Amino acid sequence: MSETRIARPGEVIIDPDEIAGIVARLAEEISHDYEGRNPILVNLLKGGVVFLADLMRALQVPHQIDFMHVSSYENGTSSSGRVRIVDDLSCSVEDRDVLIVEDVIDTGTTLAYIVNVLQLRRPRSLEVCTLLKKGLEGAVRMPIRYVGKVIPDIFVVGYGLDYEEGFRDLPYIASLEFVDRPQPDV
Ligand code: IMP
Ligand code: MG
Repeated sequence: MSETRIARPGEVIIDPDEIAGIVARLAEEISHDYEGRNPILVNLLKGGVVFLADLMRALQVPHQIDFMHVSSYENGTSSSGRVRIVDDLSCSVEDRDVLIVEDVIDTGTTLAYIVNVLQLRRPRSLEVCTLLKKGLEGAVRMPIRYVGKVIPDIFVVGYGLDYEEGFRDLPYIASLEFVDRPQPDV
């Protein structure tokens, strides 16, 4: 039998203007804190890539970027609890100021794992910047230096965030809703 429910963006949770305001505020804080330090922004693919592209252009301090591809959701909307490094960084973070740039922190499992991995590489400092944080205190408690916005514990898509690889291109962040697929007349 074919799938009878289809996923689509629902209510807009954060519109493009609000996103721009959040990015500008975070960039100002980071620029202030990292003056003269040339940090490496470590972006977690793929969800964080749109956020990074906007954030880096708003920063007023020299910085480098690098990417780590991690996966925690096998599929769907609930965390598998397992984290896997799909692709590692291309540069050394030893003795560098590292700022992890993440799209959303849900349970915190992904972040806790990455923080542990990066700490072992002896950075000079290690902080986290996330665009979104879900309201519930996650399973893993992590000090998050920069938080764009706290949102309710719902699954969201757009601005880099996906549902089964779709909807990353939306310029806003929306809830995800499921509707019945129209049935062909028989
Ligand atoms: P955590 O390990 O439970 O904190 O999950 C973090 C990762 O799961 C994020 O980096 C996202 O890739 C993904 N994720 C969590 N919540 C959402 C969501 O609402 N929409 C899309 N992806 C999400
Ligand atoms: Mg992610």
